[in-house]
Amino acid sequence: MTSSWEQFEELIKAEMRKIYSETAIDHSMNPRNVGGMEDADGFAKVTGSCGDTMELWLKVKNGTVADASFMTDGCGTSIASGSMVTEMAKGKSISELRKISQQDVLSALGGLPDESEHCALLAANTLKEAIRDYLAMEKEPWKRAYRKY
Ligand code: FES
Repeated sequence: MTSSWEQFEELIKAEMRKIYSETAIDHSMNPRNVGGMEDADGFAKVTGSCGDTMELWLKVKNGTVADASFMTDGCGTSIASGSMVTEMAKGKSISELRKISQQDVLSALGGLPDESEHCALLAANTLKEAIRDYLAMEKEPWKRAYRKY
């Protein structure tokens, strides 16, 4: 027997399925890799055109992303985008990582409505900034001591 809460949840999902893919709904409602990271090798905090902010952390070992996580104060699709972009980042080399674009995030999520596409751009841009930060820290590791997450 299903509870009234489960019925309510199913009702919401049915409405969401009219707009979003199953993958986007899943990453929005069960986001992966949420939270900050101690001793990250790359970090970025980016505010998008909508005013929402995403933070993204990277742990890199031997030139490959060993771990990635994110936080956002944005909408459900920004949560889905952050979840997806961190999943896509894991296990990739830095050069592979640099190629991840807004379009890649959108494709991986099974598309987003036009008005939500900028949420995928926010995730892709935050990843790019975290890579830039990682590369800058590689050049000048002493700056890590002054880093504030
Ligand atoms: Fe701002 Fe989605 S509306 S990130």
